[in-house]
Amino acid sequence: MSPASTAGPLRTSAGAVRVHRGRFAHAPAADTLQILDDTLIVVDDRGVITEVLEPDHECYARTLAEARDDGRLNTATGSAFWLPGLVDLHVHAPQWPQLGTALHLPLEDWLQRATFPLEARCADLDYADRIYRSLVTTLLAHGTTTAVYFATLHDAATQRLAELCLELGQRAVVGRVAMDHPDQCPDFYRDPCAEVALRGTEALIDHLANERRNPRRLVLPAITPRFIPSCTDPLLRGLGELAERYACHVQTHCSESDWEHDHVRMRTGMSDTHALEAVGLLGRRSILAHANLMDDRDLRTVAHCGAGIAHCPLSNAYFSNGVFPLRRAAGLGVRIGLGTDVAGGPSASLFDAARQAVMVSRLLETGVDTRRAAGKRGVSDSRIDFVHALHLATAGGADVLDLPIGRFQPGCRFDALLIDPQAPGSDIVNLSDRDSDQDLLQKTLYGATRANVRETWVDGLRR
Ligand code: GUN
Ligand code: FE
Repeated sequence: MSPASTAGPLRTSAGAVRVHRGRFAHAPAADTLQILDDTLIVVDDRGVITEVLEPDHECYARTLAEARDDGRLNTATGSAFWLPGLVDLHVHAPQWPQLGTALHLPLEDWLQRATFPLEARCADLDYADRIYRSLVTTLLAHGTTTAVYFATLHDAATQRLAELCLELGQRAVVGRVAMDHPDQCPDFYRDPCAEVALRGTEALIDHLANERRNPRRLVLPAITPRFIPSCTDPLLRGLGELAERYACHVQTHCSESDWEHDHVRMRTGMSDTHALEAVGLLGRRSILAHANLMDDRDLRTVAHCGAGIAHCPLSNAYFSNGVFPLRRAAGLGVRIGLGTDVAGGPSASLFDAARQAVMVSRLLETGVDTRRAAGKRGVSDSRIDFVHALHLATAGGADVLDLPIGRFQPGCRFDALLIDPQAPGSDIVNLSDRDSDQDLLQKTLYGATRANVRETWVDGLRR
């Protein structure tokens, strides 16, 4: 029994707690959907779940009565139910204004012609504040309670993004993008040397460590080499040293497209994975976006180092030249979550990324060229189902970040969404009382939009 229940569930040594009552659904493992009906979740004043009480629990009636009397009960009404908050492992905050545009270009042209000029505008702090505020607010409305952000190479604007996440109440990992390679980065958008990028990275780490509004470490820094082509060797090595010194997260793009993958192999003689490992950038806290072109040796190295992968099916459709072999990677022990890759992907909704993950896995399994005989078109055992996709969007992302979120269980922080299938404007068809719980969850994964996100809670607080 936890200390809170010995003392009575509604008090902790630090203060009063809140109780959420309703139906809670989560996917704690890739093949496990758990639905907890009419359950009480007790959350302490630090936002941590201390009790999950089902109706047959001995403390249920007393906890319910006390919470009601104290006015600390939050009851989900109607057909609404709770899901863990969504974890988006890969978002480019400065690309928000170009969402849904420029995707006809290949990656290397898209970067040079569309993306770098747009990101460069974040030198203007007022502009950055405006677009970042819009993005964080929108992602919260879509149910993204945790976002892992690439910002830009501008120190002030990157720090502003981190501050906005604190102000608006989104859990986040934020990176100051490092990019100093003169062959791959334009003059108008390049770190003048490795030293400047390293100092800017450390400035963000210091800023977040000293930010008084961040006592619970809601926002964490990430060391962020954009990708190997945009960084010189001294910069990569310096960032690897910072990763060791600060033991913080690292994020980068890895084995995304043929062009990028070949470029790295030509320059280093290695795959991205092994080149990152060689400079100390592959570890338990590394988040590798895409990973489409990793072979089994790469995947085994990633699993061995404990790094995680941000699977970005929305943008992979445009830039990747292939489908990420998710089941193969998971089978080799790699931790995986989902990313929207705003704005390489055209949607800010992690529900869109989750349904797209299911769809591309089906295409990988069956194959796509109908001139080939059925059975010779695809890669067997590649499909995932909606439970696996829900897991990736929640607990899977949480595990990649090693954060106690993504599940409704004691010890996890209460990051959660109240989903209303019958909200005005809902696209979830919920007309029949013959829908099983599984049906409703499946319909939600395929149909949920921001209209269905009635409440968003992060760290025990409504946002
Ligand atoms: N590789 C380097 N930079 C980027 C980026 O901004 N988006 C994507 N999808 N790939 C990249
Ligand atoms: Fe990206």
